[in-house]
Amino acid sequence: MTSSLISIRHLDSRDFDVISPLIDDWWGGRPVRALLPRLFFEHFQSTSFALMADVNLTGFLVGFRSQTAPSVAYVHFIGVSPETRTRGYGRVLYEHFFKVVTALGCTEVHAITPPVNETSVRFHRRLGFELLAGNGEVSGYPVHLDHGGPGQHRILFSKQIAVSSSLKTNKRSDSLVATTEVHPLPSINAE
Ligand SMILES: CC(C)(COP(=O)(O)OP(=O)(O)OC[C@H]1O[C@@H](n2cnc3c(N)ncnc32)[C@H](O)[C@@H]1OP(=O)(O)O)[C@@H](O)C(=O)NCCC(=O)NCCS
Repeated sequence: MTSSLISIRHLDSRDFDVISPLIDDWWGGRPVRALLPRLFFEHFQSTSFALMADVNLTGFLVGFRSQTAPSVAYVHFIGVSPETRTRGYGRVLYEHFFKVVTALGCTEVHAITPPVNETSVRFHRRLGFELLAGNGEVSGYPVHLDHGGPGQHRILFSKQIAVSSSLKTNKRSDSLVATTEVHPLPSINAE
């Protein structure tokens, strides 16, 4: 058996033409394509990645840093081609994202999924995400009812990737002092 050379690069707008036609299939036939328009490939490149096996795009992650809460990063889509699943590629993509957004100052990562996507729930739990407490329950999972519109209930995931820290100047000694703050989340333990 030959092994592939795995590499990660930033997504660019040409990747939209490759990925968009594939994703309904990759999502098991669910019509998700419209949720990932070209704008994500144009305007979120610095925090969005393609995983290449040799020259083949075999996985991707589209994420960004929250404009509203800069300590939060959000993963909008992550997908791995069906024939290369459970080889660790999804984990590699997420771990790369964690590294990049930690360097930007993010301390937590959020994502959502519908309760029907059991694979996503298992995957995110394995990566250490918690399922946040919601206002309803579907299939035993806490959900945020109507989060994506009427009847579109969603599980909200959160993972702490670093303790939030800020550097402030100590005027008297003129030295830099590191301070830390922890913001507890309303969550249940997903393990
Ligand atoms: C979810 C998805 C990205 C996972 O990618 P992957 O490359 O197969 O995942 P990995 O091999 O990196 O697995 C990481 C961990 O999750 C676990 N995992 C992955 N798929 C799993 C499954 N179906 N059931 C149980 N555990 C699973 C692995 O066992 C592994 O655990 P470990 O590292 O502790 O041993 C892939 O299944 C996919 O593309 N699904 C369709 C798209 C989707 O639903 N995306 C998520 C919502 S945006």
